[in-house]
Amino acid sequence: MDLERTLVLVKPDGVQRGLVGTIIGKFEATGMKIVGMKLMHVSDTLAQRHYAEHEGKPFYAGLVDYITSAPVVALCLEGPDAIAITRKLMGATNPSDAPPGTIRGDFGVEISRNLVHGSANEGDAAREVGLFFSDEELIDYPRSNDVWIASDEG
Ligand code: RTP
Ligand code: MG
Repeated sequence: MDLERTLVLVKPDGVQRGLVGTIIGKFEATGMKIVGMKLMHVSDTLAQRHYAEHEGKPFYAGLVDYITSAPVVALCLEGPDAIAITRKLMGATNPSDAPPGTIRGDFGVEISRNLVHGSANEGDAAREVGLFFSDEELIDYPRSNDVWIASDEG
């Protein structure tokens, strides 16, 4: 398994609804390591960069309005297969397709209020982590229990 870093956002609805701790707790409980974390307001410029792949789509303007409407919590998570593990915990993009047990399945109702973002692949993850965090904000540190989360044999 590859050691990966991924960008997670608890979107404005997650913050407003008091689900920050619950959502981060689910990611944290897998053993993924938090290497960056902050509460922040996403600017229009950052939203446009982050969602550049969706420019021109019918939901684009609403998406930019949504992500800039109130603070988000941005996280950089690290661990073996962190990108896929994060996406699995989030569930399908549309909460109505997301199974129980996933964040969107348990807490979401519709696609335009789906609570979380997680990078889709390694290229997106590197780009998005760079958009949201400076190098100084990403902290490299050992944990004494890492050996109990993933063995070196992978
Ligand atoms: P995300 O980027 O937020 O982690 O979610 P995703 O990969 O599962 O979804 P993506 O296709 O990248 O879409 C980004 C976000 O745009 C909103 N969306 N709305 N109304 C619609 O048809 C529609 N489609 C996408 C969602 O907030 C989605 O998370
Ligand atoms: Mg996406």
